[in-house]
Amino acid sequence: MTSQPLQAPRAPDAPRSFPADHEEVTLLVDARIDAADGVVSLVLRHPNGGPLPAWAPGAHIDVLLDNGLIRQYSLCGNPADRAAWQIGVLLEPESRGGSSYVHDRIREGSAVRVRGPRNTFPLRPAQHHRFVAGGVGITPILAMVEAAEAAGADWRLLYGGRTRASMAFLDRLAPYGDRVLIRPQDEYGLLDLAAFIGPPRADTLVHACGPEPLLRATQKQCADWPAGTLGIERFAPVRPTGAEAAPSASFEVVLTRSGRTLTVPPDRSVLDVVEEAGVPVLFSCREGTCGTCETDVLEGTPDHRDSVLDEDERATGETMLICVSRSCGPRLVLDL
Ligand code: FES
Repeated sequence: MTSQPLQAPRAPDAPRSFPADHEEVTLLVDARIDAADGVVSLVLRHPNGGPLPAWAPGAHIDVLLDNGLIRQYSLCGNPADRAAWQIGVLLEPESRGGSSYVHDRIREGSAVRVRGPRNTFPLRPAQHHRFVAGGVGITPILAMVEAAEAAGADWRLLYGGRTRASMAFLDRLAPYGDRVLIRPQDEYGLLDLAAFIGPPRADTLVHACGPEPLLRATQKQCADWPAGTLGIERFAPVRPTGAEAAPSASFEVVLTRSGRTLTVPPDRSVLDVVEEAGVPVLFSCREGTCGTCETDVLEGTPDHRDSVLDEDERATGETMLICVSRSCGPRLVLDL
């Protein structure tokens, strides 16, 4: 992410992606559930009833809509159920055509093209967990709390939303009693993160997903905690600031596997140029949030502008998100 000093390193047993599962597949909508005001949940199954790729809490899939848009939705079902995937989709008031298409056009029995799963937000094991969810940000967190419960960890969830009626999956959280704090804003006001997260502890990890103001407040609350405490997932890219908002220069990319050398002009991305040259490359969001276009860097120093990599990953410079990130120098060598 463009500014995530507290995002935790990836656990060794929690890979970012599962490249073998990136083939596009068409699934059927087995159930379409009104999960809350403005939120529909889709249960997807393979048409032949076969198993779907395995996933872990925090994973998302790409949904390739028939209007040409690609959207990422977190999996929120049970990872042990290999026969079905479940997602939750909030109807965005200012939808750019993704969530409104899902709400208006996708019904039970609809065919839906998907890719994945991919995990840029893994649940890292810990003795104590604090989960923070805002609105539809509950979707990845839901699978995390169920996994933490199954692992016998000590955990608490703070879940905020506009109103109780707008908050999805309250029924699945009900069995956990006072481990879950349901805090609709019209009843409780803003979330009390200070009281929930408390003072720094070395044995506790925090995972958060929700709107940008909530994530920024959570980052601030964890500022004095040990590095790597906080893992977050954003819905949208962080707006560039400072050096990242500076004008871009052109640079050269050398693609070792395809034997091409291309120039990336200031107003185009590496992905644009590589795609135009006919070099096969995976991508989805094109805005630095999904992780699909992550590419190995063999030489040169990337100018990271994404919302996915943590500080350690940025510092090593071993990979970059080519849809948004650029080069600090005149030349990059990529494994493409
Ligand atoms: S395509 Fe999503 S991060 Fe690059």
